[in-house]
Amino acid sequence: MSLRRTKIVATLGPASSTAEVLEKMILAGLDVARLNFSHGSPDDHKARAKLVRELAAKHGRFVALLGDLQGPKIRIAKFTHKRIELQEGDHFRFSITHPRDAGTQEVVGIDYPDLVKDCKVGDELLLDDGRVVMRVEQTTEDELHCVVLIGGPLSDNKGINRRGGGLTAPALTEKDKADIKLAAEMELDYLAVSFPRDAADMELARRLRDEARSSAWLIAKIERAEAVADDESLDALIRASDGVMVARGDLGVEIGDAELVGIQKKIILHSRRYNKVVITATQMMESMIHSPMPTRAEVSDVANAVLDYTDAVMLSAESAAGDYPVEAIKAMARVCLGAEKHPTSITSNHRLGQEFERCDESIALAAMYTANHFPGIKAIISLTESGYTPLIMSRIRSSVPIFAFTPSRQTQARVALFRGVQTIPFTPEAYLTSQMSQAAVDELLKRNIVQPGDWVLLTKGDSYHSVGGTNTLKILRVGDHLV
Ligand code: G6P
Ligand code: MG
Repeated sequence: MSLRRTKIVATLGPASSTAEVLEKMILAGLDVARLNFSHGSPDDHKARAKLVRELAAKHGRFVALLGDLQGPKIRIAKFTHKRIELQEGDHFRFSITHPRDAGTQEVVGIDYPDLVKDCKVGDELLLDDGRVVMRVEQTTEDELHCVVLIGGPLSDNKGINRRGGGLTAPALTEKDKADIKLAAEMELDYLAVSFPRDAADMELARRLRDEARSSAWLIAKIERAEAVADDESLDALIRASDGVMVARGDLGVEIGDAELVGIQKKIILHSRRYNKVVITATQMMESMIHSPMPTRAEVSDVANAVLDYTDAVMLSAESAAGDYPVEAIKAMARVCLGAEKHPTSITSNHRLGQEFERCDESIALAAMYTANHFPGIKAIISLTESGYTPLIMSRIRSSVPIFAFTPSRQTQARVALFRGVQTIPFTPEAYLTSQMSQAAVDELLKRNIVQPGDWVLLTKGDSYHSVGGTNTLKILRVGDHLV
């Protein structure tokens, strides 16, 4: 069992769809597989999900599945030959009437009719997370005429942002609504909502999720200037979600790269404060799309996110379309482990001086306080239904592993995203109450996680299956007669 605490999310795509590659990715440490609904058909996603689940089961690993909704991201349509190359000074047009699959060196279709209305002469448009930049020179009924300021390659379905943000588009598109149903059908563990503006967008997503009978946890992607304009807006969005993603691609384009590092730290800190899980994403190992090793700057970026205490770091094109998907996971795993040795990864100053809101929260935090201050403690066993108790625990910096003991398949997968949490399938009602603690500790002994003489913490509630019911913390010595 891996002792790495920080989790690895990797996007699946053409480079990572065969059983052979996926198996290597899982063995290299993949914790959460991201299915990007902006690309690929429902059948592609279903096939990948099926493979991931089969291969994870084959190796006794627990890998969560995260569906990422396309959202109202404005994207160009397709090119006749998939990709063009633009030079500085070239003239290029975006058209709401041009055929969707027949882009050329001069013009490409666009799916969002309001773009032409939303833009004016002089606006700067950033394509593919800012790799290509254009300025609007002229607008007509159905086209924007632009001049290229920074050239580069442009391929099918790349995104467009306007510098400074503020493009208007409703948060959930018709495609997203269909994909929420797909997520329910596929029993996905997480669903990421793209470009939410505020809590109301997340509440709408939650309603649609419930209507579709999905129990996926909702991740708000923080990627609009509006979402981080002030603490109140950010906190409201975080509180309306089960977790958040620092979606640095679009966010960096909208707020500028200089602001990004400070905002990343703030989003991670605030998410943990509200007991939410947080993923740091975009370009973390970008050079590994074509290189078997990361740059020092990338190593430093991943390590810094680990020190900020993110739950997970994410790969996008590196694993979806790159030449080295397996090496990218290995590199991330290695760098996470290195950064986790640093004292800032282990010592917690979190929430000292703050009040707790709930009983289970009080128990979870008491467990962490004990774990961090009683050197004999080698593991924490948390009996959990939904994963919530271990989630609260894992908001606290620590080197003691947290084990989510649960009979629920979905919770076993879900906790794959939580920092420092591993799962062990366990059905407490299979044992007499007086034998349950021993049975739980036996699971750790069996896996060589603890030895006789070690101390273990165990949390639970008074009755089985009651979400939010945790009210007990036990301190157990392995090898003693436990009741
Ligand atoms: C298990 C335990 C219960 C406890 C629950 C907490 O079901 O048997 O005693 O109340 O987990 O679940 P939660 O989802 O709140 O972590
Ligand atoms: Mg984005």
